[in-house]
Amino acid sequence: MAVIDVKVPDIGDFKDVAVIELLVKPGDRVAVDQSLITVESDKASMEIPSSHAGVVQELKVQLGDKVSEGSVVLTLEAEGAATAAAPQPASAPVAVPTVDAPVAAAVPASAPTPAEAPAPTVAPTSALAPAAPHQPASAPVLGLPHASPSVRKFARELGVPLAEVKGSGPKGRITLEDVQAFTKAVMAGILQTQAQAAQAPAPAAGTGVGLDLLPWPKVDFAKFGPIERKELGRIKKISGANLMRNAVMIPAVTNHDDADITELEAFRVQLNKEHEKSGIKVTMLAFLIKACVAALKKFPEFNSSLDGDALIYKHYWHIGFAADTPNGLVVPVIKNADQKGILQISQEMADLAKKAREGKLGPADMSGATFTISSLGGIGGRYFTPIINAPEVAILGVCKSQMEPKWDGKQFVPRLMLPLSLTWDHRVIDGAAAARFNAYLGQILADFRRVLL
Ligand code: COA
Repeated sequence: MAVIDVKVPDIGDFKDVAVIELLVKPGDRVAVDQSLITVESDKASMEIPSSHAGVVQELKVQLGDKVSEGSVVLTLEAEGAATAAAPQPASAPVAVPTVDAPVAAAVPASAPTPAEAPAPTVAPTSALAPAAPHQPASAPVLGLPHASPSVRKFARELGVPLAEVKGSGPKGRITLEDVQAFTKAVMAGILQTQAQAAQAPAPAAGTGVGLDLLPWPKVDFAKFGPIERKELGRIKKISGANLMRNAVMIPAVTNHDDADITELEAFRVQLNKEHEKSGIKVTMLAFLIKACVAALKKFPEFNSSLDGDALIYKHYWHIGFAADTPNGLVVPVIKNADQKGILQISQEMADLAKKAREGKLGPADMSGATFTISSLGGIGGRYFTPIINAPEVAILGVCKSQMEPKWDGKQFVPRLMLPLSLTWDHRVIDGAAAARFNAYLGQILADFRRVLL
């Protein structure tokens, strides 16, 4: 391997220009045309490229030295075919105007024209924004920030607007360290702003940002008394995630109403007496399923699902019912409830509820529902707000019926009243439609013959 001198090539009219940057050091491997130093005259700064590839042995210049064409920049242990050959002239250095130099004066004769030369970037409007496109060659250059090509390149890579960087070098020249310091300062500012935002109160609705929730409270419960930890069961874990999504993503509203089921209850009791021997027990839920099918047919959007900006209307009526099991809540489905009678629905419900409690429901038993009923009637309560089972758009909650005094126009009479709570997706259903749905359901339950209409 031969050690050669790498010299300053033809740099036009420039003489005795100052070395303002050392871009390599002894031991560095450099490629042909790689910039070695930056020099600067009154009018422009430029990078001096290497004529050969190899490993830097010794730098022959220091910062502040004055160099001209032919000055030795460094010694290089040259590599490859060029080693034995005479040193090749390096590519022409590319000049970049200094702060107050017009372009024409800054470009050496052998250098590319301004149109070919890499132009300085325009400062983006905000710090750390992506670098703006190169200026056209005709763009005015007066007032450009004063920085060497390598510093400009570094700033461009980081998206730093040089116009906003204060130079600490001679004549206010922007150094690599200035760009680094600017970047650090901007980053510190951003981090501080983020930290302040995290502590700020939740933004007002409509600002288009995320939920911005407070972190979940962490409490050491054992500090206040004895505790026991038990993992959630599989069903609770799955249904919990689904409930959470449905509660958060659906703009849900609940209407409460009462249905007079005095006659229907008498009929139900009579029916059970008649079918005592069959083993089929008819509960109010079977009537509710049938009544809901009639209401869903009258108000088809309650039997639909959202699909982007469209509604999918389903021409089948599969009714899910929430079933309480030792392992958690499941929702088996009565398929084609419109085609089944009260006794068949009661039988199927009993079978599905048994399977649910034994943990034997399969996916087919729990899929395809178009509407769901959650009945707490066997337990108690007045009203509640059930969560819609997405992608359905409504759910009916039912509580325990009880005798209430009702004014018939002349006197108070005892009537059996069933509390209904209808939750609906406001993206699909309006309040008036929901009130009509409940009113219609009430009419059917009050006089079940209407199901036939
Ligand atoms: N008002 C008054 N009594 C009612 C009633 C109502 N709305 N609904 C049912 N009952 C009565 C029944 O007639 C029955 O009475 P009986 O024992 O004198 O015959 C009793 O309550 C128990 O009924 P149940 O066995 O619960 O039958 P069902 O058909 O009403 O309900 C299930 C079946 C599977 C839905 C029900 O057992 C269940 O699991 N419910 C819980 C649903 C749930 O957890 N929902 C909440 C989801 S967040």
